[in-house]
Amino acid sequence: MARFGRAHKTLEEVDRTRLPRHVAIILDGNGRWAKKRGLPRTAGHAVGVERFRDIIRYCDELGIPFLTVYAFSTENWKRSEEEVSAIMRLLEKYLHEAIDTMEKDNLRLFVLGDQSRLAPVMRELIARTDEISKHTTGTTLGLCLNYGGRDEIVRAARSFAEDCAAGRCRPEDLTEEDFSRRLYTGDFPDPDLMIRPGGELRLSNFLIWQNAYAEMYFTDVLWPDFSRREFDRALIAYQKRSRRFGDVKE
Ligand code: FPP
Repeated sequence: MARFGRAHKTLEEVDRTRLPRHVAIILDGNGRWAKKRGLPRTAGHAVGVERFRDIIRYCDELGIPFLTVYAFSTENWKRSEEEVSAIMRLLEKYLHEAIDTMEKDNLRLFVLGDQSRLAPVMRELIARTDEISKHTTGTTLGLCLNYGGRDEIVRAARSFAEDCAAGRCRPEDLTEEDFSRRLYTGDFPDPDLMIRPGGELRLSNFLIWQNAYAEMYFTDVLWPDFSRREFDRALIAYQKRSRRFGDVKE
């Protein structure tokens, strides 16, 4: 019986009729994954990009319309120059690849974050993905790059203050919806599910406004080991939660 019980548990499936609309993921654990294998940290990031490609495809197959990933934070510049350049090369390569395949894959891609510190070549690639995303209509990917949640909120507040100072709006007219629209995520719906692999139990300045009501899923699995089955586990855990948005329990 016990054996049957365990087998039954591993066979749990995702209910495809109750999927989250927006999943947000912190790509964590690449460095430790590489270290465990005696490889340079950058090898972990390279495998991390493979997992990321596969999870986007999986979201598309499942019909999850929005996926946002934390690829590089405003704090990540503190890492060694070698590691920062390796991550930037991977991102540049991914953007080139996206430009070639987004139309065929019907992918919308938005880079979220402060682009002013990015190399001109990256900014040009981002301008091209923005342009393509104007006419693609499928899965929407948010790629957080030089992104910080507090920085994003300060920028939104500043843009509102500037509009007020110029007489375009009044402080008392500001609503949560208007404010949300001023964030990098613009018209994205708020994440329903936030996944953090890699064993840490914190938000690390990731979508701190948007994650207000997200269900949180933490796992010790390191990002380069995060398979489709791990993604299923997160979805199954999400589907077992009762989301109340501050309302009483039924
Ligand atoms: C966190 O793991 C990961 C990062 C800071 C970088 C993630 C970046 C990539 C996977 C490449 C980006 C490119 C694309 C296309 C998404 P960590 O290095 O903090 O790992 P550790 O906690 O084990 O040290």
